[in-house]
Parts: sequence; structure tokens; C-alpha cells
Amino acid sequence: MALHDSIRYENGTLMMDALPMADLVAKTGTPVYLYSLKRALHNLHAIRTAYSGLTVEVHYSAKANGCLAVLRALIQAGAGIDAVSAGEIHRALTAGATPQQIVFAGVGKTPDEIRYAVGQGVGWFNVENVDELHQLQQAATDLGRDAVPVALRLNPEVTASTHPYIATGHGGAKFGLTAEVIRHVLAHQAQYPRLRFGGLHVHIGSQLGDTAATVAAVSRAQELLAPYPALRMLNIGGGMPAVYRQGQALPAFSDFAAALRPLLRDYHVILEPGRAIIADAGVLVTTILYVKKQAGQTLYIVDAGMTELIRPALYEAVHEFVPLRSFEGNIHRAAQVVGPVCESSDVLGQEVMLPELRPGDRLAILTAGAYGMVMASNYNARPRPPEVVVTAQGNSAFVARARETWEDLLRGEV
Ligand SMILES: Cc1ncc(COP(=O)(O)O)c(C=O)c1O
Repeated sequence: MALHDSIRYENGTLMMDALPMADLVAKTGTPVYLYSLKRALHNLHAIRTAYSGLTVEVHYSAKANGCLAVLRALIQAGAGIDAVSAGEIHRALTAGATPQQIVFAGVGKTPDEIRYAVGQGVGWFNVENVDELHQLQQAATDLGRDAVPVALRLNPEVTASTHPYIATGHGGAKFGLTAEVIRHVLAHQAQYPRLRFGGLHVHIGSQLGDTAATVAAVSRAQELLAPYPALRMLNIGGGMPAVYRQGQALPAFSDFAAALRPLLRDYHVILEPGRAIIADAGVLVTTILYVKKQAGQTLYIVDAGMTELIRPALYEAVHEFVPLRSFEGNIHRAAQVVGPVCESSDVLGQEVMLPELRPGDRLAILTAGAYGMVMASNYNARPRPPEVVVTAQGNSAFVARARETWEDLLRGEV
């Protein structure tokens, strides 16, 4: 099981750090997300340690989990933020980031978002479009800003070893600029006197299964930068994987760092990890509503579904499920864990090995801290779940976000 120091059994009770999960969920009911700040900070530290000796800044990718309490803890620990919308920049600022600590990425930034970000003075713009450069130049002129920092996002035309829905660096993807366009822009930097070109950005995908594609992408970026010794910022994006299933063979942070180290020595490197920091720091806890045994199978119908965790339906993602109190010794049988949403794809887990469970029993869905709550929806008029955070010391917790109410669901409608 993908358990670790922060999420583990102690005397048959599933714990988050020093606190039993059963106690944590008693405050809010289920479904509920629980996050361990201790684990998130541990992951941040492990990434920094792997890359030590190089000039590396970690900008946590807020898209993975934008909970203010999570952002606050990571920012206080010195992380910058990778934001993909003005909304995420606003969240990052609210959580205490300085504008300079924020990199602003995104394939479709609106003119208003660009003006907002220039006005705030964000640290880097990861630019994916030549028209975006013109808009940036215009916004800088209108707002009287100079030397707006730009990293051009390269589409390196490499195929990442991951699910096709989270690969971004192959030719034909909507992301980034081709090498040809980048060569042209760099040769004509003078056309954008208000911008300061600092280097390149390259992000080839998420949950990367090997380091080779990243090495190839970084090498291509460096070929483009070779004629410009003043441009030595390289943002190599996110993508480092999380362990979703015990025994999954995946490259560790240290494998990425070791493979890239020879290439990165003379560069100012930015990393944008999201999943690698927060995925295994979070669980989604759900309660069994019904047990249905029919057509030769056991179905556990639970109170969380694709509205709370869409990853299985969207990416065929596989999560592990563990009961809040262990049933060691009991026979485990394959069951389906399904949500209450009126969609056939609302299956959280297939062939999940579980003991005999009853209505009222609770399950933790592991490794749910990334791309979980941020993708939650109100489909079927379901209020989004609360988020409970266990503090960095591990011995106390607070409700970081309340469960949505029916009024929340109606807000803004006439
Ligand atoms: C540009 C960029 N940076 C960083 C990330 C974060 O990726 P991950 O959560 O895999 O680290 C993403 C995710 O899609 C991304 O698109």
C-alpha cells in the first residue's frame, strides 16, 4: 500500500501524522479531504535536497491543490508559486506570496489576466504565443513597466511516458512554441523593448514514467539558448511522479536530479512540481452507503464520487483504498467502489481488494492530494467537500475550507 510516515496504521487505526483519521473526519463528516502539511513540507524538502548544489528555485504548481492553508505552508517554507490564471495569482498573493515569487503560465491567458499580472509585477511570464508577447509589450507600455521577465515555452516535440491526457510536450500539442518560432523571437528581441527575455520554459507532462524524455527536452532547450549566453534561466516545469500503487516502478526525485545535473550546472533552474509535493500528502475519506452484491460482484456504494475525485473517470487513474480501521486477518476480496453520481463512469475503483465492509464503514482513498479537490464539481447539485489540514507539527488540525452549502450552490443565480 502507498502508505508512508505521515499516513500509516497504528494499532489498527489509520493515522494522519499523530491524529486518527476517524477523529479528523468526525468534525466534518464525509466526503472530506485531509491533508498532511508535514508530508507536503517533507516532499518539498526532498526535492530541494535532490537538486542541492544547483541553482534551483521550487515554484509549487498551485493547480495541483490550491488550498490556501497548503499554499501558505509552502510559501512560508520558501517555495514560489506556479500559477495558470489570474485567479491562482490572487490565491497565491492571498496566501502570502510576493508577486516576484510567482511564475505565470498558461496557454490562453486573457488580456485582462496579462494586465493584472503585469500590474502586480509577477516574477516570470511563461509565454506560449507570439501574440501574447505583443499583448505583454502593450500591457507593459500602458502600465509603465519595464523589463517584464519572459520565459518562452518550448514545445520540445518529445513524447513523455505518461497518460496521453497529461502529456504536453509532443509535436501537435496545444502547448508551447516550436523551436523555429523561438529562434525567430530570440533573434528579434528588440521588437519587445519592454520585455526582458531570460530563458526558456519546458514542461512535457505530468506523472512522468522516466527521466529520458525530460533530458531530451532540456537538451533541446539548451541548443536554442546556446547563441545567447545572457539567457540562462531554464524552467523545466513539473511532472515528477507520485506513487499511487505499492511497488510502482517510478523514477525518484534523485533520479531526475541525477539525470539532469550535468546539463543544469550553469543555469538558473526553476522547477514547478505540483503532484510530487501534494499527492501523497492527501486522502479523500468516504463512507460506505450501501453494499450491493449482484451479478457475482460486490459493489461498495460510497458518498464520494467523480464530483469529488474525477481522476479515475478522467484519466483511468488507479488509487488505493484503505479502511480507517484495519481489518487485518480478514479475507480480502475484489470489489468495485462506486460513487452516487448518475454516470456509468462514476467508478472510483475497480477490482479493489477489500475486507467485508458494512454501511457506515469508512475508507480513505490514498494519494488524492493532487488534482482532487481542485477538479471537484457541483454536478448533480452536490456541494463540494470540506478540506481538513493537519498542521506541520502533526498533532493538531483545522477545517481549512468548509463544506459547501445549498446556498453556495444557488449563489449568483436569479
Ligand atoms: C506548465 C506546468 N507546470 C507544472 C505543472 C505541474 O505538474 P505536476 O503536478 O505533474 O508536477 C503542470 C501540470 O500540468 C504544468 O502544466
